[in-house]
Parts: sequence; C-alpha cells; structure tokens
Amino acid sequence: MTRATGVAHPNIALVKYWEKRDERLILPVAGSLSLTLDAYPTTTTVELDETLDADTFTLNGAAGDETQTGRVTRFLDLVRELAETDTRAHVSSSSDVPTGAGLASSAAGFAALAVSAAAAFGLDLDAPALSRLARRGSGSASRSIVSGYAVWHAGDDEASFAEGVTGPDTRMVVVTVDRSTKAVSSREAMKRTALTSPYHDAWASSTAEILEVALEACRDDDYTRLGRITELHALRMHAHIQSADPPIRYLRAASIAVFDDVERLRAEGIECYATADAGPNVVVLTLPGDAAAVAERLAVHGTTTVVGPGPAASLVSAGAER
Ligand code: PMV
Repeated sequence: MTRATGVAHPNIALVKYWEKRDERLILPVAGSLSLTLDAYPTTTTVELDETLDADTFTLNGAAGDETQTGRVTRFLDLVRELAETDTRAHVSSSSDVPTGAGLASSAAGFAALAVSAAAAFGLDLDAPALSRLARRGSGSASRSIVSGYAVWHAGDDEASFAEGVTGPDTRMVVVTVDRSTKAVSSREAMKRTALTSPYHDAWASSTAEILEVALEACRDDDYTRLGRITELHALRMHAHIQSADPPIRYLRAASIAVFDDVERLRAEGIECYATADAGPNVVVLTLPGDAAAVAERLAVHGTTTVVGPGPAASLVSAGAER
C-alpha cells in the first residue's frame, strides 16, 4: 500500500501511566488501565511519496509546528526501519480533541498514525504489535489501539502492549473547564517527577499494586471498587506531580470545584468518581443511568459531554491510488 487512512479514539486512564523506566522504548514504571472513548476521533492519512526529502505533517489543515512534525518523523523512522525503506510520507490528521488540555490528544493521534502508517508502509501487524508500535509515539497511545477497557502491561519491549479486559458498564462525563494548551508537557513533567519527586519509588510500587486490585474489580464487575480506585489514583498522581521541584500543578480552581461537586453527588446517592489527566479538565466515571444527571449538575463548571466505551483503532481505507 502507498496510502492509508486510520481512525482512533482517546482513552482515559483509571489507573494512570506516569513515568518511564526506559525513555527511548517508552516502557512505563508500572502498568495502567483505561477506557477507550466513543468520542473525539482522530483520523490520519499517510501517503508515501518517493520524491520527498522530509516528511510533511498537517493537523486540521494547518502545517504542524516543528515539535509536532519532529515527533511524527521520529515515529515514521521506526515504521521505516520495520519496513526496510527510506521513503518519506505526507501525514495529515484531523481531530476534534482539544489539543494539549489533558484529554489525551496524543493517544488518539499516535494510535491513528500507527494504524495508517503500518498499512501505508505495507506492514501486516496484529493488535499487540500495533499497540507496541503506538506506544513508541506516546505511551498512552498503546491503549487506544484497543476497544473499551484496556490494560497496558509494564514489561520489556516485547511484552509491553495493551489488551482488552471486560469491566463494569460505565459512562464518562468529560468536563472541559479550560481549553488552553498546558504549560508543561506530560513528557517533560514525567521526567521532572522521576528526577526530583521524593515519592518516585512509592508511586511506582503502589501503582503496580493498585492495578491488580483494579483488574480484580473489573473481573468482578465491581463498579464501586473500580470507581474508588479511579479517584484515589488520579489524586495520587496529581500529588506526585505537584511534589516535583519546581512543582507542576495541572489542576485549576475549576478542576477542584468539579471534584468537590462529585463528592457532593456521592453524598446525595449518585455514585460517581472524578479523574483528571495531565491538564485541568476533569472526567467523571458514572453508571449509564446517572450520566445525564451528572452532566447536567456539572455543567456550571464548563462544557460537559457524555461519552461511552469506544471502538478499537481501525483502518478506514488503504490503497495504491487516491
Ligand atoms: O502518553 P502520554 O505521554 O501523553 O502520557 C499520558 C499520561 C496521563 O494521561 C496523565 C495518564 C495516562 O495514563 O493516560
């Protein structure tokens, strides 16, 4: 194939990935668990062009900046190595994820790029191999290859991929309190916590333990246990991030206000749990029947969107010609 288009959706971690034990291979210090969403798809087309000296990258119709294009090129270099070719490519992506605001734009982006680039370069990769490849673009992208709940295994290069698990039927309410780009990228922040936080070892060992409990809750279809872990682990991650020197704070006043309201909702008998990635926006885990009420209640804090479990990354089209 010389041209292929793939689509992928973001995922929200219930047990978070934070910090790498191998920076080059993007191997995490511990495994993580997420839900791939049915909203905010990224669609990416990769087209090989023998006449190009360098890859090109456009995002939503505009030329990507140097950092974005550099990341795409480094990723395609891995694909070129596997395909044993030097051919460069045009990459165009469209996405309605609010880029850089902690809603995992890189997860959907690199999962869509992995699927489309593998097909365009003629690689026949199964889901674990695609997940391993996506991981090299952005760790959390390994999980967007998989539908619904996905566990990303820690381990060596071969073993570190995501696979599907069954779990309770849930919805998520995405509360977008701020769409601005975050000041410190998750990549940079991970490095800083690893180097300067006094909690680094405890973070890694407790995450591995909590993942086991979360997987047990999934197996038992235990929504309450999974929800409690989700909120606990998000707050632990943010505590860890805030303990870096200099400190990094992703949660804003509006984010904390959402956590407060989620606590109030629970006191009123609506069982829901808050989490937040490396940004100010909050995502609330609910039971399907409570999602609309939770969204309505939290709308005072920002835009609310109810999302559910979404599909695996997939190939939309592939061919030799336009
Ligand atoms: O994959 P990255 O480098 O965008 O890191 C994502 C880290 C968190 O979103 C904060 C947590 C997670 O597990 O997705």
